[in-house]
Amino acid sequence: MKFRRVGDSGLVVSAIGFGCNNLGRPNSATEEAGEAIRVVQAAVDAGVTFFDTADTYGRSPGLSEQYLGQALKPVRDQVIIGTKFGMDMRGANGMDFGARGSRRYIVRAVEASLRRLDTEYIDLLQYHTPDNLTPVEETLAALDQLISDSKVRYIGHSNMSGWQMAQAHYVAKELGRERFISAQNHYNLMDRRAELEVLPAAITFGMGVFPYFPLNNGLLTGKYRPDGGPEGSRLSYVRQHMVTDADWNQLSQYSNFAQERGITEVEASFSWLASQQPVASVIAGATRVAQVQQNARALEYEMNSQDLAILDEIFPPADRVALY
Ligand SMILES: NC(=O)c1ccc[n+]([C@@H]2O[C@H](COP(=O)([O-])OP(=O)(O)OC[C@H]3O[C@@H](n4cnc5c(N)ncnc54)[C@H](OP(=O)(O)O)[C@@H]3O)[C@@H](O)[C@H]2O)c1
Repeated sequence: MKFRRVGDSGLVVSAIGFGCNNLGRPNSATEEAGEAIRVVQAAVDAGVTFFDTADTYGRSPGLSEQYLGQALKPVRDQVIIGTKFGMDMRGANGMDFGARGSRRYIVRAVEASLRRLDTEYIDLLQYHTPDNLTPVEETLAALDQLISDSKVRYIGHSNMSGWQMAQAHYVAKELGRERFISAQNHYNLMDRRAELEVLPAAITFGMGVFPYFPLNNGLLTGKYRPDGGPEGSRLSYVRQHMVTDADWNQLSQYSNFAQERGITEVEASFSWLASQQPVASVIAGATRVAQVQQNARALEYEMNSQDLAILDEIFPPADRVALY
Protein backbone atom coordinates (compact mmCIF):
# COMPACT_ATOMS: atom_id res chain seq x y z
CA MET A 1 0.00 0.00 0.00
CA LYS A 2 1.13 3.52 -0.75
CA PHE A 3 0.44 6.42 1.61
CA ARG A 4 -0.08 10.08 0.87
CA ARG A 5 -0.49 13.36 2.73
CA VAL A 6 -3.84 15.04 2.34
CA GLY A 7 -2.81 18.28 0.66
CA ASP A 8 -0.24 20.08 2.78
CA SER A 9 -1.82 18.96 6.05
CA GLY A 10 -0.21 16.44 8.40
CA LEU A 11 -2.91 13.83 7.75
CA VAL A 12 -1.58 10.74 5.96
CA VAL A 13 -3.93 8.22 4.34
CA SER A 14 -3.64 5.07 2.24
CA ALA A 15 -3.67 5.98 -1.45
CA ILE A 16 -6.44 3.41 -1.89
CA GLY A 17 -9.19 4.05 0.61
CA PHE A 18 -12.46 2.27 1.24
CA GLY A 19 -15.77 3.98 0.43
CA CYS A 20 -18.61 2.86 2.69
CA ASN A 21 -21.79 3.76 0.81
CA ASN A 22 -22.42 0.04 0.15
CA LEU A 23 -22.53 -0.80 3.87
CA GLY A 24 -26.19 -1.32 4.72
CA ARG A 25 -27.27 -0.45 1.16
CA PRO A 26 -30.49 -2.25 0.16
CA ASN A 27 -29.85 -5.19 -2.21
CA SER A 28 -26.07 -4.96 -1.94
CA ALA A 29 -24.00 -7.94 -0.77
CA THR A 30 -23.00 -5.80 2.24
CA GLU A 31 -26.52 -4.86 3.26
CA GLU A 32 -26.32 -6.87 6.48
CA ALA A 33 -23.79 -6.46 9.29
CA GLY A 34 -21.97 -9.81 8.93
CA GLU A 35 -20.80 -9.36 5.35
CA ALA A 36 -20.28 -5.61 5.76
CA ILE A 37 -17.92 -6.16 8.68
CA ARG A 38 -16.09 -8.96 6.85
CA VAL A 39 -15.45 -6.72 3.84
CA VAL A 40 -14.21 -3.81 5.98
CA GLN A 41 -11.87 -6.12 7.87
CA ALA A 42 -10.56 -7.45 4.54
CA ALA A 43 -9.71 -3.85 3.64
CA VAL A 44 -7.77 -3.43 6.89
CA ASP A 45 -5.92 -6.70 6.18
CA ALA A 46 -5.09 -5.44 2.67
CA GLY A 47 -3.42 -2.33 4.11
CA VAL A 48 -6.22 0.22 3.69
CA THR A 49 -6.15 2.86 6.44
CA PHE A 50 -8.66 5.41 5.13
CA PHE A 51 -12.39 4.69 5.46
CA ASP A 52 -14.91 7.16 4.07
CA THR A 53 -18.52 7.03 5.21
CA ALA A 54 -21.39 9.50 5.83
CA ASP A 55 -24.23 9.77 8.29
CA THR A 56 -26.77 9.27 5.49
CA TYR A 57 -25.37 6.00 4.10
CA GLY A 58 -27.39 2.82 4.60
CA ARG A 59 -31.00 1.76 4.20
CA SER A 60 -31.73 3.70 7.39
CA PRO A 61 -29.56 6.75 8.05
CA GLY A 62 -26.53 5.88 10.13
CA LEU A 63 -26.38 2.16 9.33
CA SER A 64 -23.10 2.43 7.42
CA GLU A 65 -21.47 4.33 10.31
CA GLN A 66 -22.74 1.74 12.74
CA TYR A 67 -21.30 -1.21 10.79
CA LEU A 68 -18.03 0.65 10.19
CA GLY A 69 -17.63 1.48 13.88
CA GLN A 70 -18.17 -2.17 14.80
CA ALA A 71 -15.71 -3.43 12.20
CA LEU A 72 -12.97 -0.94 13.08
CA LYS A 73 -13.29 -1.08 16.88
CA PRO A 74 -10.28 -3.42 17.35
CA VAL A 75 -8.01 -1.23 15.17
CA ARG A 76 -9.48 2.20 15.90
CA ASP A 77 -6.19 3.96 16.61
CA GLN A 78 -4.56 2.57 13.44
CA VAL A 79 -7.11 3.85 10.92
CA ILE A 80 -8.47 7.15 9.64
CA ILE A 81 -12.24 7.49 9.76
CA GLY A 82 -13.79 10.10 7.50
CA THR A 83 -17.49 10.77 7.84
CA LYS A 84 -19.86 13.46 6.63
CA PHE A 85 -22.82 15.55 7.75
CA GLY A 86 -25.08 17.82 5.73
CA MET A 87 -27.24 15.58 3.52
CA ASP A 88 -30.86 14.89 4.35
CA MET A 89 -31.09 12.50 7.33
CA ARG A 90 -34.81 11.92 6.76
CA GLY A 91 -35.70 13.29 10.20
CA ALA A 92 -33.12 11.29 12.17
CA ASN A 93 -31.54 14.55 13.40
CA GLY A 94 -34.88 16.28 13.93
CA MET A 95 -36.22 19.22 11.90
CA ASP A 96 -33.33 20.97 10.18
CA PHE A 97 -35.06 23.38 7.74
CA GLY A 98 -32.26 22.64 5.26
CA ALA A 99 -29.78 24.61 7.40
CA ARG A 100 -27.48 21.66 7.85
CA GLY A 101 -24.33 23.80 7.94
CA SER A 102 -25.65 25.62 11.03
CA ARG A 103 -24.02 25.36 14.46
CA ARG A 104 -27.19 23.90 15.93
CA TYR A 105 -27.37 21.15 13.34
CA ILE A 106 -23.66 20.31 13.16
CA VAL A 107 -23.32 19.72 16.91
CA ARG A 108 -26.29 17.38 16.90
CA ALA A 109 -25.15 15.53 13.78
CA VAL A 110 -21.63 15.00 15.08
CA GLU A 111 -22.77 13.73 18.48
CA ALA A 112 -24.95 11.18 16.67
CA SER A 113 -22.10 10.11 14.35
CA LEU A 114 -19.73 9.64 17.30
CA ARG A 115 -22.29 7.40 19.02
CA ARG A 116 -22.89 5.29 15.93
CA LEU A 117 -19.20 4.99 15.10
CA ASP A 118 -18.58 4.13 18.76
CA THR A 119 -15.53 6.37 18.89
CA GLU A 120 -14.41 9.45 20.81
CA TYR A 121 -13.19 11.33 17.75
CA ILE A 122 -13.66 11.63 14.00
CA ASP A 123 -10.39 11.92 12.07
CA LEU A 124 -11.87 13.79 9.11
CA LEU A 125 -15.29 15.42 9.30
CA GLN A 126 -16.60 16.47 5.88
CA TYR A 127 -19.37 18.93 5.04
CA HIS A 128 -21.25 16.67 2.59
CA THR A 129 -22.82 19.41 0.50
CA PRO A 130 -23.02 23.14 1.17
CA ASP A 131 -26.43 24.40 2.27
CA ASN A 132 -27.82 27.56 0.69
CA LEU A 133 -28.84 29.16 3.97
CA THR A 134 -26.01 29.13 6.46
CA PRO A 135 -23.11 31.57 6.05
CA VAL A 136 -19.84 29.67 5.77
CA GLU A 137 -18.53 31.80 8.68
CA GLU A 138 -20.95 30.02 11.02
CA THR A 139 -20.14 26.56 9.63
CA LEU A 140 -16.40 27.14 10.03
CA ALA A 141 -16.84 28.47 13.57
CA ALA A 142 -18.82 25.37 14.60
CA LEU A 143 -16.25 23.03 13.01
CA ASP A 144 -13.35 24.92 14.57
CA GLN A 145 -14.96 24.43 17.99
CA LEU A 146 -15.29 20.67 17.41
CA ILE A 147 -11.56 20.51 16.70
CA SER A 148 -10.83 22.49 19.89
CA ASP A 149 -13.05 20.04 21.79
CA SER A 150 -11.00 17.11 20.36
CA LYS A 151 -14.10 15.54 18.83
CA VAL A 152 -12.78 16.10 15.31
CA ARG A 153 -9.17 16.14 14.07
CA TYR A 154 -9.46 17.58 10.55
CA ILE A 155 -12.23 19.04 8.40
CA GLY A 156 -12.98 18.68 4.71
CA HIS A 157 -15.81 19.44 2.32
CA SER A 158 -17.61 17.74 -0.54
CA ASN A 159 -19.52 18.83 -3.63
CA MET A 160 -18.30 22.43 -3.43
CA SER A 161 -17.69 24.42 -6.60
CA GLY A 162 -14.45 26.32 -7.23
CA TRP A 163 -15.80 29.66 -5.96
CA GLN A 164 -17.18 28.06 -2.80
CA MET A 165 -13.79 26.48 -2.12
CA ALA A 166 -12.09 29.87 -2.54
CA GLN A 167 -14.63 31.59 -0.31
CA ALA A 168 -14.27 28.98 2.45
CA HIS A 169 -10.49 29.13 2.27
CA TYR A 170 -10.29 32.91 2.60
CA VAL A 171 -12.99 33.17 5.27
CA ALA A 172 -11.12 30.62 7.41
CA LYS A 173 -7.91 32.55 6.88
CA GLU A 174 -9.46 35.92 7.65
CA LEU A 175 -11.14 34.70 10.83
CA GLY A 176 -8.23 32.53 11.99
CA ARG A 177 -10.35 29.37 11.89
CA GLU A 178 -9.26 25.82 11.07
CA ARG A 179 -9.43 25.35 7.30
CA PHE A 180 -10.80 22.57 5.13
CA ILE A 181 -7.95 20.24 4.12
CA SER A 182 -9.81 18.09 1.58
CA ALA A 183 -12.39 18.21 -1.20
CA GLN A 184 -14.47 15.19 -2.14
CA ASN A 185 -16.04 15.50 -5.58
CA HIS A 186 -17.40 13.40 -8.44
CA TYR A 187 -14.42 12.47 -10.60
CA ASN A 188 -13.55 9.54 -12.83
CA LEU A 189 -12.41 8.90 -16.40
CA MET A 190 -15.96 9.31 -17.72
CA ASP A 191 -16.70 12.50 -15.78
CA ARG A 192 -13.74 14.88 -15.71
CA ARG A 193 -15.56 18.11 -14.84
CA ALA A 194 -13.64 18.40 -11.54
CA GLU A 195 -10.58 19.29 -13.64
CA LEU A 196 -12.08 22.64 -14.59
CA GLU A 197 -12.16 24.27 -11.14
CA VAL A 198 -12.10 21.83 -8.23
CA LEU A 199 -8.66 20.32 -8.86
CA PRO A 200 -6.95 23.66 -9.62
CA ALA A 201 -8.60 25.23 -6.55
CA ALA A 202 -7.48 22.32 -4.36
CA ILE A 203 -3.90 22.67 -5.62
CA THR A 204 -3.95 26.43 -5.01
CA PHE A 205 -5.25 26.04 -1.45
CA GLY A 206 -3.03 23.08 -0.49
CA MET A 207 -5.92 20.62 -0.26
CA GLY A 208 -6.13 16.91 -1.07
CA VAL A 209 -8.88 15.52 -3.31
CA PHE A 210 -10.88 12.31 -2.80
CA PRO A 211 -12.58 11.43 -6.10
CA TYR A 212 -15.93 9.78 -5.59
CA PHE A 213 -17.56 7.29 -8.00
CA PRO A 214 -14.01 6.35 -9.10
CA LEU A 215 -15.38 3.41 -11.11
CA ASN A 216 -18.50 5.26 -12.23
CA ASN A 217 -20.72 2.91 -10.20
CA GLY A 218 -18.85 -0.09 -11.60
CA LEU A 219 -19.18 0.82 -15.30
CA LEU A 220 -15.40 1.24 -15.49
CA THR A 221 -14.66 -2.26 -14.15
CA GLY A 222 -15.17 -4.02 -17.48
CA LYS A 223 -17.80 -6.33 -15.98
CA TYR A 224 -20.78 -4.79 -17.80
CA ARG A 225 -21.91 -5.48 -21.36
CA PRO A 226 -24.45 -3.46 -23.40
CA ASP A 227 -27.17 -5.88 -22.28
CA GLY A 228 -26.37 -5.77 -18.55
CA GLY A 229 -23.98 -7.02 -15.90
CA PRO A 230 -23.44 -9.86 -13.44
CA GLU A 231 -26.32 -10.69 -11.13
CA GLY A 232 -26.19 -8.70 -7.91
CA SER A 233 -23.89 -6.02 -9.35
CA ARG A 234 -24.94 -2.44 -8.57
CA LEU A 235 -26.06 -1.40 -12.04
CA SER A 236 -28.24 -4.50 -12.31
CA TYR A 237 -30.57 -3.16 -9.60
CA VAL A 238 -30.10 0.64 -9.64
CA ARG A 239 -29.35 3.22 -12.35
CA GLN A 240 -29.65 0.55 -15.09
CA HIS A 241 -29.83 3.39 -17.64
CA MET A 242 -26.09 3.96 -17.11
CA VAL A 243 -25.45 0.63 -18.84
CA THR A 244 -27.90 1.10 -21.69
CA ASP A 245 -26.84 4.72 -22.30
CA ALA A 246 -23.07 4.08 -22.13
CA ASP A 247 -20.77 4.74 -25.07
CA TRP A 248 -19.76 1.13 -25.72
CA ASN A 249 -17.25 2.05 -28.37
CA GLN A 250 -15.43 4.16 -25.79
CA LEU A 251 -15.62 1.42 -23.17
CA SER A 252 -14.27 -1.19 -25.56
CA GLN A 253 -11.28 1.06 -26.38
CA TYR A 254 -10.73 1.37 -22.63
CA SER A 255 -10.81 -2.43 -22.18
CA ASN A 256 -8.30 -2.81 -25.02
CA PHE A 257 -6.06 -0.22 -23.33
CA ALA A 258 -6.06 -2.30 -20.13
CA GLN A 259 -5.59 -5.59 -21.94
CA GLU A 260 -2.60 -4.32 -23.95
CA ARG A 261 -0.86 -3.45 -20.67
CA GLY A 262 -1.79 -6.68 -18.91
CA ILE A 263 -3.80 -4.83 -16.27
CA THR A 264 -7.46 -4.85 -15.29
CA GLU A 265 -9.83 -1.98 -15.98
CA VAL A 266 -9.94 -1.33 -12.22
CA GLU A 267 -6.16 -0.91 -12.17
CA ALA A 268 -6.37 1.43 -15.16
CA SER A 269 -9.00 3.63 -13.52
CA PHE A 270 -7.41 3.77 -10.09
CA SER A 271 -3.86 4.37 -11.27
CA TRP A 272 -5.11 7.08 -13.64
CA LEU A 273 -6.93 8.81 -10.76
CA ALA A 274 -3.94 8.44 -8.45
CA SER A 275 -1.75 10.13 -11.07
CA GLN A 276 -3.92 13.27 -11.10
CA GLN A 277 -2.86 16.15 -8.84
CA PRO A 278 -3.82 16.57 -6.00
CA VAL A 279 -5.63 13.26 -5.48
CA ALA A 280 -4.81 11.98 -1.99
CA SER A 281 -6.77 8.74 -1.90
CA VAL A 282 -9.05 6.86 -4.29
CA ILE A 283 -12.02 5.90 -2.13
CA ALA A 284 -12.96 2.57 -3.60
CA GLY A 285 -16.40 1.20 -2.81
CA ALA A 286 -16.62 -2.59 -2.77
CA THR A 287 -19.12 -5.29 -1.87
CA ARG A 288 -16.91 -8.36 -1.85
CA VAL A 289 -13.64 -9.42 -0.23
CA ALA A 290 -12.13 -10.26 -3.63
CA GLN A 291 -12.94 -6.74 -4.90
CA VAL A 292 -11.27 -5.17 -1.86
CA GLN A 293 -8.14 -7.23 -2.43
CA GLN A 294 -8.02 -6.37 -6.12
CA ASN A 295 -8.61 -2.67 -5.42
CA ALA A 296 -5.90 -2.50 -2.75
CA ARG A 297 -3.33 -3.75 -5.28
CA ALA A 298 -4.45 -1.44 -8.08
CA LEU A 299 -1.61 1.08 -7.78
CA GLU A 300 1.10 -1.48 -8.50
CA TYR A 301 0.78 -0.23 -12.08
CA GLU A 302 1.97 3.36 -12.54
CA MET A 303 0.78 5.37 -15.53
CA ASN A 304 3.43 6.82 -17.83
CA SER A 305 2.97 9.91 -20.01
CA GLN A 306 2.06 7.82 -23.05
CA ASP A 307 -0.65 5.97 -21.10
CA LEU A 308 -2.08 9.30 -19.94
CA ALA A 309 -2.11 10.68 -23.49
CA ILE A 310 -3.94 7.61 -24.81
CA LEU A 311 -6.53 7.81 -22.05
CA ASP A 312 -7.02 11.51 -22.89
CA GLU A 313 -7.90 10.40 -26.43
CA ILE A 314 -10.43 7.84 -25.19
CA PHE A 315 -11.88 10.00 -22.41
CA PRO A 316 -11.29 13.67 -23.37
CA PRO A 317 -10.35 16.07 -20.55
CA ALA A 318 -13.13 18.40 -19.44
CA ASP A 319 -11.59 21.45 -21.12
CA ARG A 320 -11.72 19.68 -24.49
CA VAL A 321 -15.41 18.87 -24.19
CA ALA A 322 -17.70 21.57 -25.53
CA LEU A 323 -19.66 22.92 -22.56
CA TYR A 324 -21.70 25.65 -24.15
N1 LIG B 1 -19.45 12.93 -1.36
C1 LIG B 1 -20.40 12.42 -2.10
O1 LIG B 1 -21.39 13.10 -2.44
C2 LIG B 1 -20.29 10.98 -2.53
C3 LIG B 1 -21.15 10.46 -3.53
C4 LIG B 1 -20.96 9.13 -3.89
C5 LIG B 1 -19.98 8.35 -3.28
N2 LIG B 1 -19.19 8.89 -2.31
C6 LIG B 1 -18.10 8.12 -1.65
O2 LIG B 1 -17.27 7.56 -2.65
C7 LIG B 1 -17.14 6.16 -2.42
C8 LIG B 1 -16.94 5.48 -3.72
O3 LIG B 1 -18.13 5.59 -4.48
P1 LIG B 1 -18.85 4.32 -5.06
O4 LIG B 1 -18.53 3.17 -4.19
O5 LIG B 1 -20.27 4.64 -5.25
O6 LIG B 1 -18.19 4.29 -6.46
P2 LIG B 1 -17.63 3.44 -7.62
O7 LIG B 1 -16.20 3.15 -7.42
O8 LIG B 1 -17.95 4.23 -8.82
O9 LIG B 1 -18.45 2.09 -7.65
C9 LIG B 1 -18.23 1.12 -6.70
C10 LIG B 1 -18.85 -0.18 -7.16
O10 LIG B 1 -18.05 -0.78 -8.18
C11 LIG B 1 -18.03 -2.18 -8.00
N3 LIG B 1 -16.63 -2.61 -7.77
C12 LIG B 1 -15.72 -2.07 -6.93
N4 LIG B 1 -14.56 -2.71 -7.03
C13 LIG B 1 -14.72 -3.68 -7.95
C14 LIG B 1 -13.87 -4.67 -8.49
N5 LIG B 1 -12.61 -4.80 -8.10
N6 LIG B 1 -14.39 -5.52 -9.44
C15 LIG B 1 -15.66 -5.40 -9.85
N7 LIG B 1 -16.52 -4.49 -9.37
C16 LIG B 1 -16.05 -3.61 -8.43
C17 LIG B 1 -18.87 -2.49 -6.77
O11 LIG B 1 -20.21 -2.71 -7.14
P3 LIG B 1 -21.06 -4.03 -7.12
O12 LIG B 1 -20.28 -5.15 -6.55
O13 LIG B 1 -22.24 -3.69 -6.30
O14 LIG B 1 -21.37 -4.18 -8.55
C18 LIG B 1 -18.88 -1.19 -6.04
O15 LIG B 1 -20.01 -1.02 -5.26
C19 LIG B 1 -18.42 5.80 -1.68
O16 LIG B 1 -18.37 4.58 -1.02
C20 LIG B 1 -18.58 6.98 -0.77
O17 LIG B 1 -17.75 6.82 0.35
C21 LIG B 1 -19.33 10.19 -1.96
